[in-house]
Amino acid sequence: MANQVSNGGNHVSTKPPPEPSPLRKAKFFQANMRILVTGGAGFIGSHLVDKLMQNEKNEVIVVDNYFTGSKDNLKQWIGHPRFELIRHDVTETLLVEVDQIYHLACPASPIFYKYNPVKTIKTNVIGTLNMLGLAKRVGARILLTSTSEVYGDPLVHPQTEDYWGNVNPIGVRSCYDEGKRVAETLMFDYHRQHGIEIRIARIFNTYGPRMNIDDGRVVSNFIAQAIRDEPLTVQLPGTQTRSFCYVSDMVDGLIRLMEGNNTGPINIGNPGEFTMTELAETVKEMINPNVKIITVDNTPDDPRQRKPNITKANELLGWEPKIKLRDGIPLMEEDFRKRLEIPRKK
Ligand SMILES: NC(=O)c1ccc[n+]([C@@H]2O[C@H](COP(=O)([O-])OP(=O)(O)OC[C@H]3O[C@@H](n4cnc5c(N)ncnc54)[C@H](O)[C@@H]3O)[C@@H](O)[C@H]2O)c1
Repeated sequence: MANQVSNGGNHVSTKPPPEPSPLRKAKFFQANMRILVTGGAGFIGSHLVDKLMQNEKNEVIVVDNYFTGSKDNLKQWIGHPRFELIRHDVTETLLVEVDQIYHLACPASPIFYKYNPVKTIKTNVIGTLNMLGLAKRVGARILLTSTSEVYGDPLVHPQTEDYWGNVNPIGVRSCYDEGKRVAETLMFDYHRQHGIEIRIARIFNTYGPRMNIDDGRVVSNFIAQAIRDEPLTVQLPGTQTRSFCYVSDMVDGLIRLMEGNNTGPINIGNPGEFTMTELAETVKEMINPNVKIITVDNTPDDPRQRKPNITKANELLGWEPKIKLRDGIPLMEEDFRKRLEIPRKK
């Protein structure tokens, strides 16, 4: 673990990581890298699975409870000899022999994580504890997909990883924000106390094909509204900003983080910053110039600004996003039109 870069303080574990299964070192045991993806039937998870499956040396096991994910996202892999899909809730224990764990299981959209906030907290806390217990038992490296929400309504802009955040602990979003903060704490405690090899990605808004169409996230909202000829609803004041990372860039960043030597946390996101009004205007121009843009009330605790500082990802992982918003929107439009069965007007 000595070569692990951590982020200040006494975060480096003094313990050696747990031993992987002895079979891994056996002379005649030919094994692929066995990779567990929790939440692999979801939006980012299914794209991650696609990428991992491209490597013939990988065997991929997905566990998902299908709360917000769908088997449809993985249909091209079902039946493949290097792929397994298990219906499982991460709040229950799981025993599988794996080398790496990408722990994504958690609803990411406010509509879904607020639907059952107690369950969201359980998924973040008990689910992460279970996956860390598994990592400890089988000697696997584990990556947590944390979130920019750990910065809350940030008082520092753009957000660097050493910023501790400005989070409301008792608000309607806290089940997600605080849940992820505890999940990060658990990751570092297992790392320091048990020598588990950990990786933490702080993901900023990500978009692309396979997002749930009516999940209330702003890019999917605007694109679905433009396709359906409905007004684009900008939450007031409209000057709040977000940055949007295309999903293939995100997957590339997650794999680099897993394969590299840095525990993180590392921000992965696109620093291109847009106000919600600008985003609505771009979607209108590109998809349906005839739709109206209207304003609606905002939801509580909506952060005013979000923009990652990605210096660390750049320097430590050699990563930067490649896909510009204007190139990503048409790819998502195509996927949404197919699923909504609304072809482009001639
Ligand atoms: N999409 C983003 O912009 C974004 C931003 C920040 C962080 N993240 C994080 O990335 C991860 C993936 O996000 P996503 O956008 O793909 O979300 P998603 O909702 O599409 O995927 C989450 C998956 O986890 C599954 N899941 C939820 N609870 C579970 C449980 N208890 N047991 C087993 N499976 C469970 C869902 O069914 C779904 O397939 C999440 O951890 C999320 O917090 C996403």
